[in-house]
Amino acid sequence: MIIKVTSPGRVNLIGEHTDYNGGYVLPCALNLSINLYFKINNKESRVKTDLGYSMSFNITDPYKKSSIHWENYVFGVIEELKKIKSDLNNFSCDIKSSLPSGAGISSSSALVCGLIKGLSILNNINLDNSKIINLSRNVEHNYIGLLGGIMDQYTILNAKENKAILLNCNDLTTKYIDIDFGELEILLLDTNIKHNLSNTEYNVRVKECKQALKTINQVNAKKHKNLSQVSIDEINNAKNDLSINQFKRAVFVYNENRRAVKSAELIEKNDFSGFGKLMYQSHEGLKNNYEVSCKELDFLVKQTKKIDGVVGARMMGGGFGGCTVNLVKRNEIEEIVTNVKKNYKSNFGINLKAIIAKPGTGISVVRI
Ligand code: GLA
Repeated sequence: MIIKVTSPGRVNLIGEHTDYNGGYVLPCALNLSINLYFKINNKESRVKTDLGYSMSFNITDPYKKSSIHWENYVFGVIEELKKIKSDLNNFSCDIKSSLPSGAGISSSSALVCGLIKGLSILNNINLDNSKIINLSRNVEHNYIGLLGGIMDQYTILNAKENKAILLNCNDLTTKYIDIDFGELEILLLDTNIKHNLSNTEYNVRVKECKQALKTINQVNAKKHKNLSQVSIDEINNAKNDLSINQFKRAVFVYNENRRAVKSAELIEKNDFSGFGKLMYQSHEGLKNNYEVSCKELDFLVKQTKKIDGVVGARMMGGGFGGCTVNLVKRNEIEEIVTNVKKNYKSNFGINLKAIIAKPGTGISVVRI
């Protein structure tokens, strides 16, 4: 028997860098995914991708960090599963993907969640979604070195077609928001600046936020658990005790968190131009206060401001490369993409990739 797991990428409409601060995010799953085909293989374990990479090992081999980045996702998942069941079966896994990697659409979480799902079924380990999210986060933190939040995994596991999830990352309460943008589409523009977030300042931001929270709590004699819970007055009270960067990060998180909640309300009221304005504000905050953008992302967002058919745009995901997410008029997409591609190429000498994104379903499993 072959177990086929389809694990989607994620699009985040708004609410960036708020997940690890216990705030709100508004993501949906992307209608592009990684397909993983698992079967038991008695001799050895083998993982092969359609990009031509492959690895083989014995499941009983002791854990060893690999010098090849993607292999550590596989080894990390196996180590985490071994903590639950020590005698795992050798397996083969063929991976076929329509998800571009390093584009900020969470191909790595799609891979990790897909591996956990498939291998747990193959080994009769019963895992609910929250357990998969925890394991997946452990893999990123402990084997990849990225101190990420839970937005991507939560979305990959729980997304529904044509819906976004307003997720409170503090208590994991959710509200599904219908996504029907009428004459508008979600357009992703991929800078083709590939990033591996563990080599960026992502972890520095996580630490700056932790430190800011500690200081704000001390100054205000409070015990807030997350930076998203502090008020703007509490941030201002602590201004003299925070570094300039910590102050900027805290102000961004405060604003972005409110933008995420407000955006869900606006989308529910079909006020897409209001939502578009918040997307632009989000980008400004990510660029100036949170400092996770890059010149290519800024260029793309700036370009769209001159185009009537674009309602809103911002960088998406961890930053430092990857995609922008844009809300654009459907019947102008072709012209917009052609023009922006041309300008991008002549400025940076890099090809731009465009993806029309539809909110898709979460992870699924088929036995073949
Ligand atoms: C990456 C992380 C997420 C989240 C975003 C930024 O995608 O994996 O947990 O922090 O960056 O919003």
